[in-house]
Amino acid sequence: MKKKLVQSVKEHFVQWFDNEPEFVFLSPGRINIIGEHVDYNDGYVLPAAINKYIGFAISKNETSACTIFAQDLNQSHKFDLNDTLKPIDKMWMNYILGVLQQLKEKGFAMQGFNMVFSSTIPMGAGLSSSAALECGIGFAMNNMFDLALTKIEIALIGQKSEHTFAGVNCGIMDQFASVFGKKNHVIKLDCNTLEYEYHQADFKKYSLLLLDSNVKHTHLTSGYNTRREEVEQGLATIQQHFPEVKTFRNCTENMVLELKEKLGETIFKRCHFVVKEIQRVQDAVDALEQSDFKTLGQLMSATHRGLSKEYEVSCDELDFLVDAVQHENSVLGARMMGGGFGGCSINLVEKGTEEELINRISKQYQNQFGIELKAYKVKISKGTTVYKN
Ligand code: GLA
Repeated sequence: MKKKLVQSVKEHFVQWFDNEPEFVFLSPGRINIIGEHVDYNDGYVLPAAINKYIGFAISKNETSACTIFAQDLNQSHKFDLNDTLKPIDKMWMNYILGVLQQLKEKGFAMQGFNMVFSSTIPMGAGLSSSAALECGIGFAMNNMFDLALTKIEIALIGQKSEHTFAGVNCGIMDQFASVFGKKNHVIKLDCNTLEYEYHQADFKKYSLLLLDSNVKHTHLTSGYNTRREEVEQGLATIQQHFPEVKTFRNCTENMVLELKEKLGETIFKRCHFVVKEIQRVQDAVDALEQSDFKTLGQLMSATHRGLSKEYEVSCDELDFLVDAVQHENSVLGARMMGGGFGGCSINLVEKGTEEELINRISKQYQNQFGIELKAYKVKISKGTTVYKN
């Protein structure tokens, strides 16, 4: 699949620009085992890059003009690097422009380039195709123009592009996973210090299965930004009563419970979820290290309940998909994944039972919502990279 993508962007590049691209880069999407909506709350997350990518075929062109062709959308955009770059009405382009504008602001010298990109990461499915795009372009510029950026700088620039050019006040998880992905490893990232460690993603007789609700997360931007404001407000209240609390990391469940009345119902639920989720990630890493998949699965399912009932970022379709597998002997745990309001559920499933499960759930899902279910068996892969034949 990776080879096919590379071949395809190369061919389209030749069609568009009449010569072979100098470089091909690959930037992956991500999954997250556990640790949702805690990256911007100083928690831990446990993501991994997957074998679904955006492929970029690209060449410098010795001018200051850039021509970018989004192969899957059959759209193109031209601009001059010397102009101030601003958000435009092509959303896909904003992720790219946001990265380039920051590089310019930081004083990095770049030249014009021609580029074709195409993706095997489904869009709007919660697999972070936007982070893959941001990190891919950052990585490409770094590589082509010798900018000497570190990996963490590339991830942070990607995140800021999302804030400034796409309007989503996201955390660092998606960009970090896309850049730092390592084959067959999950990343335990401390979102407070940005320290990280890799853990073997060896699920023995289990595998990770994604069920795509096919509901595009259109409410994500407003819902996401509102959640951020709510938890900020919650933390400020907690700090008034417990000045020793610097971040959610050193806030205990008891503190939140004690302030239930003062926080008010909604903010209480949000804060309670955050504190519990930060703990769950640490427990999940222990469970993974001990190959205790039953516990890992239970933690994932507990995360879903929290995301659905307390953080309220799920939707009927995702709740249905998670409920539908609760009593399956072959499924140890399931939860919605990513920002929410649509996208995929992630399931820890006994190997060999996937097809039968997919068939059964697809029928139930079709009957209930009239929507076609998609399923992806993903492999954990390496982060953003230059493709070498
Ligand atoms: C989106 C954001 C991430 C993270 C997740 C929820 O994917 O981009 O930063 O907050 O939602 O865990």
